[in-house]
Amino acid sequence: MCGIIGYMGPKSVVPILIEGLKKLEYRGYDSAGIAVVDKGHIQTRRVKGKIHSLEESLQKSPLNGSYGIGHTRWATHGRPSEENAHPHRDCTGQLVVVHNGIIENYLALKQALKKEGHTFRTETDTEVIAHLIEKKFRGSLEEAVRAAAAELEGAFAVAVLSVEDPDTIVAAKVGPPLVVGLGDNETLVSSDVNPILAYTQNAAFLEDGEMAVIKPEGVKFFDFSGKPVTKKIEHLTWNPLLIEKRGFKHFMLKEIFEQPEVVRDTLLGRISLDSGKVRLDEIGLSAPLLKHVRKALVIACGTSYHAGLVGKYFLESLAHVPVEVEYASEFRYRDFVIDKDTLVIVISQSGETADTLAALRACKERCAAVLAITNAVSSSIARESHGVLYTHAGPEIGVAATKTFTAQLTALLLLALNLGQIKGNIDQETSYALIEEMQRIPHKMEKVLARAKAIEDLASRFVSFSHFLYMGRWVNFPVALEGALKLKEISYVHAEGYPAGEMKHGPIALIDEKMPTLAIVPKDKVYDKLLSNISEIKARAGYVLAVAFEDDAQIPQHVDVVIPIPSAHPLLTPFLTVVPLQLFAYFIAAKRGADVDQPRNLAKSVTVE
Ligand code: AGP
Repeated sequence: MCGIIGYMGPKSVVPILIEGLKKLEYRGYDSAGIAVVDKGHIQTRRVKGKIHSLEESLQKSPLNGSYGIGHTRWATHGRPSEENAHPHRDCTGQLVVVHNGIIENYLALKQALKKEGHTFRTETDTEVIAHLIEKKFRGSLEEAVRAAAAELEGAFAVAVLSVEDPDTIVAAKVGPPLVVGLGDNETLVSSDVNPILAYTQNAAFLEDGEMAVIKPEGVKFFDFSGKPVTKKIEHLTWNPLLIEKRGFKHFMLKEIFEQPEVVRDTLLGRISLDSGKVRLDEIGLSAPLLKHVRKALVIACGTSYHAGLVGKYFLESLAHVPVEVEYASEFRYRDFVIDKDTLVIVISQSGETADTLAALRACKERCAAVLAITNAVSSSIARESHGVLYTHAGPEIGVAATKTFTAQLTALLLLALNLGQIKGNIDQETSYALIEEMQRIPHKMEKVLARAKAIEDLASRFVSFSHFLYMGRWVNFPVALEGALKLKEISYVHAEGYPAGEMKHGPIALIDEKMPTLAIVPKDKVYDKLLSNISEIKARAGYVLAVAFEDDAQIPQHVDVVIPIPSAHPLLTPFLTVVPLQLFAYFIAAKRGADVDQPRNLAKSVTVE
């Protein structure tokens, strides 16, 4: 995830920005930059690579400044490069901006601005913000940012400065976090509290639709209509671990809440809202090779295997390609049959799982190509595959995979659309409609997350239960498996996931009042089938909790508890149905006093068999 830092105060700004960026490194990045104001002029320095490269560059040719902004970029669209690194300038070079998030309408804005004579240097969405503020600027940076924000769609946390409105940093937020540190005669703005705590424990967290106007004499807060806002000043603790958790009790909970931003980041720059096309040139597999592919073989472990099972539905529905999904630990020892028409897709968030790496090596020379879907740039699996499709989830600290799962689903959806387009198996209208729907998923995830307290209260009622059954059908069958895995791996409670159609073939014998069932019941083509499975459970004194559409008026009469989610395209419901199950598992584990982030016997990456 990108990181933002800004400083206004009496101290020399360059060391403060560099130290601040170092404290944001854990968020994951591949380029960095700063912009400082020195005697009325903006000086910028940007590097591809790590902050030590920025420091080396500054040692060779130092910068001085009285205030400034900095940024760490996790490349989401457009390769990591100095040119694509933030801060980005407007045409005049008198204004710079750093940004975290996705501007969904950046293409339309860019075309309009180009027609008005603006010249662009990069393919980033961020640069559009700089030119839009330039267009709106009439002397007040605050007013120009406010006017520009009104035209931006999507998620953006920005910090902006202009020498035409000196001694001012303006920050604005919709989506990704921004926090303002109120020091003694100095003010900072950052993506999280970590960089701020070296200067002050007093901070104000911007809400969506709020701005901070930072000047040498202090900071003022406004909403996007210009109305002053009184902010609660939080007194922050000094626990660095807690800081990195941004106030969340566990990394896992923070990462569950990061999922909307992670989906946005994984989509960023890979879809064109104009044409409905998916662009995945970056994966390094040619269109002719992909066009030739006749089937797909997905190989993974654990949660990544569950993502692969969801991906099977995406690929079959959108690319009309037959798909097998295999556990790496089993596949690698089979006398498997594979041919040059098969695309092997290995999924691994760590990129280091021994079984998955071994399976990759076993079939690499016998298939059409191996494509890795991974979160770890330059990991072993990434390096040994023919092509790589990176998820952009940022580092996942909690052992239980959450945000990397939904990031993998995002990557698999993009791959299915791309393959379908290359093979001519999906029409533009269908593709456009799905992309339109996918753009709304992060916001719908945020609506589910907003109900976390209700899920926590519900989980409290089940803390002492020792067995759970999870069931789903069609594209949500793998989500039942994932929900069960989450619960068992962090709370040590037994849970099983099943295709609901299998209940009569055995599992229904387990049902009694001591074994609650979590049913995943979105209104899709198998909804009625699932209702019958539920009624069979209810007829045997089973307790049923249903993850279902919030506007489903029928489901409450069939189950004991409804966990509501927004309605969504049938293929996309896993992005939403998994979130309450992650939260349910988290709260049960936390209330059982389990070591949620480091569950017993488990490692974040299983690099040995
Ligand atoms: C999931 O919560 C577990 N941490 C585990 O099943 C994990 O998904 C599995 O070990 C695969 O890891 P990978 O994605 O890094 O290959």
